[in-house]
Amino acid sequence: MVRRACSIFNLFFITILFAVFGKLSKAADSNSFEDNFSKSCPDNNFKTSDDGSTWYLSLDKQAGCGFITKQRYRFGWFSMKLKLVGGDSAGVVTAYYMCTENAAGPERDELDFEFLGNKSGQPYLLQTNVYKNGTGGREMRHSLWFDPTEDFHSYSILWNNHQILFFVDRVPIRVYKNANYTNNFFPNEKPMYLFSSIWNADDWATRGGLEKTDWEKAPFVSSYKDFTADGCQWEDPFPACVSTTTDNWWDQYNAWHLSEDNKKDYAWVQRNLVIYDYCKDTERYPTLPEECWLSPWD
Ligand SMILES: *[C@@H]1O[C@H](CO)[C@@H](O)[C@H](O)[C@H]1NC(C)=O
Ligand SMILES: *[C@@H]1O[C@H](CO)[C@@H](O)[C@H](O)[C@H]1NC(C)=O
Ligand SMILES: *[C@@H]1O[C@H](CO)[C@@H](O)[C@H](O)[C@H]1NC(C)=O
Ligand SMILES: *[C@@H]1O[C@H](CO)[C@@H](O)[C@H](O)[C@H]1NC(C)=O
Repeated sequence: MVRRACSIFNLFFITILFAVFGKLSKAADSNSFEDNFSKSCPDNNFKTSDDGSTWYLSLDKQAGCGFITKQRYRFGWFSMKLKLVGGDSAGVVTAYYMCTENAAGPERDELDFEFLGNKSGQPYLLQTNVYKNGTGGREMRHSLWFDPTEDFHSYSILWNNHQILFFVDRVPIRVYKNANYTNNFFPNEKPMYLFSSIWNADDWATRGGLEKTDWEKAPFVSSYKDFTADGCQWEDPFPACVSTTTDNWWDQYNAWHLSEDNKKDYAWVQRNLVIYDYCKDTERYPTLPEECWLSPWD
């Protein structure tokens, strides 16, 4: 599956240099965008609400838009509310992800949420993926139980050395377990930035690339608010965030496994919303990847 590289700087169809801090900068308030993020967008493609709490990223024929946290984190709870491009959004992908670098490096680790737009009235799909040391190919696709273009919903990642959970409105839709042996599938060594971007992927995203982006409908706008990072902020030099005596809830026993409520929700998602799971794709993987054998219930 062709996909975006792990970079916000390859979004542009035309190459222009943009100042990271545009005309939008405001007096620093604790919720202001500039405190925690840098953006890579032409001024036209990034707007905020008057109070600065909601951000609007847009895609038009000339450019997309993306932002990246200034900090890196290793383990934690990362959450944001998104409202996706409505109407005819075929070919448009809104990505919300964590990655160890701002480049498509061959050794990157990455955790992805990708929202694949669709024709008017057709459902969005949510694709998730996990990369370790440059290797991905671990796609899952889910349908959602609501229309993600009508209102804000929260999308969150819980990441510790035992599991990575992808949540939609606090419902775990995907469980990615570590194993208690050294392996090459669980990203746990390198700190990650959090990113979001909106871009054109009409070569693959909607019905496998059959539906093209209708630029007459541009600009395509995704909205964001309520960023939370409750995690360990990385500080050089290594090793930061490696203490085993941390009292941070996201790295405590209760965060190492699904809770009883989580299990019920996850079972419901598994029964009703999974469209694609690479761990079931024996045509693609005659020998299933090692992590596919780990139980999400442990
Ligand atoms: C956001 O930026 C502020 C100001 O630099 C910093 O104190 C805070 O820790 C940052 N928040 C996160 C979640 O990184
Ligand atoms: C990570 O990937 C690089 C490049 O593909 C490879 O040379 C290296 O051996 C890998 N590292 C580990 C720990 O697997
Ligand atoms: C991993 O866990 C299994 C089951 O809990 C246990 O039997 C095994 O000894 C553990 N292996 C290591 C290397 O800790
Ligand atoms: C778009 O809608 C079509 C028709 O309902 C559906 O088959 C497809 O899975 C939807 N999503 C994407 C990303 O193609």
